[in-house]
Amino acid sequence: MSDHNQLKMAKLHYEPDRPKAENPVKVEDLTLRDGHQSLFATRGRTEDMIPVAEMMDEVGFWAVETWGGATFDTMHRFLNEDPWERIRTLKRYFKKTPFSMLLRAQNLVGYRNYADDVAKAFVERACENGMDIFRTFDALNDYRNFETVVPVIKQFGMHFQGCICYSLTEPRMGGDVYNLDYYVNKAKDLDAMGADSICIKDMAGLIAPYDVYEIVKAMKATVKPPIHLHSHFTSGMSSMSHLKAIEAGVDIIDTCMTPYAFRTSHAAIEPLVMALLGTNRDTGFDIKLLAKINDVLEKEVLPKYKHLLDDTKVSIIDINVLLHQTPGGMLSNLVNQLRQMDALDRIDDVYRELPRVRKELGQIPLVTPTSQIVGIQTVNNVLFDTKDERYKMITDQVKDLCYGLYGKTAVPIDPEVQKKALKGYARGEEPITCRPAQVLEAELDKAKEETEGLAVDLDDVLIYALYPVTGKKFLKWKYGKEEPPKEVMPRSLEDARKEEALVKKARAGQVIEKDQVDKVPAKSENVRTFNVFVGSDYFEVGVDEVGGSPVLSYLQQMPAPAPGAAMPVMPAAPASAPAAAAPAPAPEPAKAAPPAPAPAAAAVEGTPLTAPMPGMIVNYLKKEGDSVNEGETVVILEAMKMENALPAPASGTVKAINFASGDSVQKNDVLAVIG
Ligand code: CO
Repeated sequence: MSDHNQLKMAKLHYEPDRPKAENPVKVEDLTLRDGHQSLFATRGRTEDMIPVAEMMDEVGFWAVETWGGATFDTMHRFLNEDPWERIRTLKRYFKKTPFSMLLRAQNLVGYRNYADDVAKAFVERACENGMDIFRTFDALNDYRNFETVVPVIKQFGMHFQGCICYSLTEPRMGGDVYNLDYYVNKAKDLDAMGADSICIKDMAGLIAPYDVYEIVKAMKATVKPPIHLHSHFTSGMSSMSHLKAIEAGVDIIDTCMTPYAFRTSHAAIEPLVMALLGTNRDTGFDIKLLAKINDVLEKEVLPKYKHLLDDTKVSIIDINVLLHQTPGGMLSNLVNQLRQMDALDRIDDVYRELPRVRKELGQIPLVTPTSQIVGIQTVNNVLFDTKDERYKMITDQVKDLCYGLYGKTAVPIDPEVQKKALKGYARGEEPITCRPAQVLEAELDKAKEETEGLAVDLDDVLIYALYPVTGKKFLKWKYGKEEPPKEVMPRSLEDARKEEALVKKARAGQVIEKDQVDKVPAKSENVRTFNVFVGSDYFEVGVDEVGGSPVLSYLQQMPAPAPGAAMPVMPAAPASAPAAAAPAPAPEPAKAAPPAPAPAAAAVEGTPLTAPMPGMIVNYLKKEGDSVNEGETVVILEAMKMENALPAPASGTVKAINFASGDSVQKNDVLAVIG
């Protein structure tokens, strides 16, 4: 009988007009930012948010996150969308729910500290375009990096949410650095800065239920602002952590709509609504309305993005996060980077080296951009270091970190590493201790000058100021000065369905390309092999230029320059190395020079400067005809968002510059030739 009664109660309470809870949990929805950033590489388009926007506005969310993080970068770079326009468009559909954005403090929505004038202008424009809540974080939890942006947020009367990046050095909270005192003291600092709410930002899904319980209890007893929990599902703990945080009195929880939930994203809203139904923390949300929204997302939107979902694994949780206390996104970046460099077999070395590098770099939290900085330096160490020398190839960002340009690290940086990193560093060899942006020169006027005739308003200028190379490219697309490439154009539902049907057919072995069978041209020795990944399928594709003109990149196969002068030649993966033209690569870096093949020998003679990793050319510091000294920087290559200064492998004259700013290059492409 009691069972029957409970069922009736549940039915009664199911209705949206059920009695209001004493202290309802507030909920921020992350579907339109962190959700698709976590699962679909931030590729969500504004047009695919509109179909659910009005319904989502009715749910009663405390806020919806619509902007910030990687959206600004991805939208202009890969989607040919104006990031500012998204706020204005969505604002027309969300009439009552406040908008929230993720702001990387002085990093804004980029990967380095920008000058104060750019930071102020950016936040002003975000306020004026319709942003309401600024979830502000600094990767080092150095709140001096908040000092420029917070007064602007306050001046516009907007909500300043201060974040504490959650980090660990061991499996559970504790130890010398990231213990309960650390978190409570950070909360006090934020309270003192005038935070309207305080967010525990668990970007890696590391926070354990009983640890968050302790933290929330302690914060509620110490500081006044509401406490907000942001936790990724990555490790599988976040639903449990949500519940314990709610028991401890947390005010606001972050969730996603089901199709954008779980995996490296966040727990879903619907189970939380049901779990709290009829309790004193009932959300009051109408679960039928949530189901309606899900239905639209599932049927009309997600088919276009499904191919971006990492379906190489069946498990939806990543136990590596529990083992390595490292953000899931960072680990997958490391894997991708190693794969691109044909060095996936070194992943265990990377796992071993990572905690060491992190400790040497000041035991910093691992969140964008520090997760990239530590991750890429770790990969560089594993791939380029020798027995006698560590930190052989230090990225510019690590140099900046050692200089103090990101802020104060949790513990001091290893003095030897710091000294090595700052040797010859342009700003000076002595690290700074002041607020980082204090040493940055104003940037806005220069950006205005450099975009004259192209940028129409301040929003345009800021796109360029934050992302000079890709931002300029985008502005040219925006104003019809350049044709945007096909890959940045939207994909229709029909395209997605056609592709899916084709993949299904191919998987079933039903695809026979008839005219290919008898008309296959002979492979030339210039054929280049590419790995093409379609979802979980993998194809090896040979590409051969029609007419067979010599390809300059085959200079990569010429004898290596004097030892120590050039980037080490990386051992190539056995299966995917270009088959026809490439001779067997040298097993040891730089030592044994592989024999030179014929085709490109005629092109330009000299010592090639090759790309040690795939990436995008930021700019060349030298032009053809310039003379260079060995070791002088010739070109800046951006790889995995980090900039690498590539030195001249020999002294001489620049004989050839083979790429331009903004070009993508593959590992071993010849970027320049010194003769
Ligand atoms: Co997040």
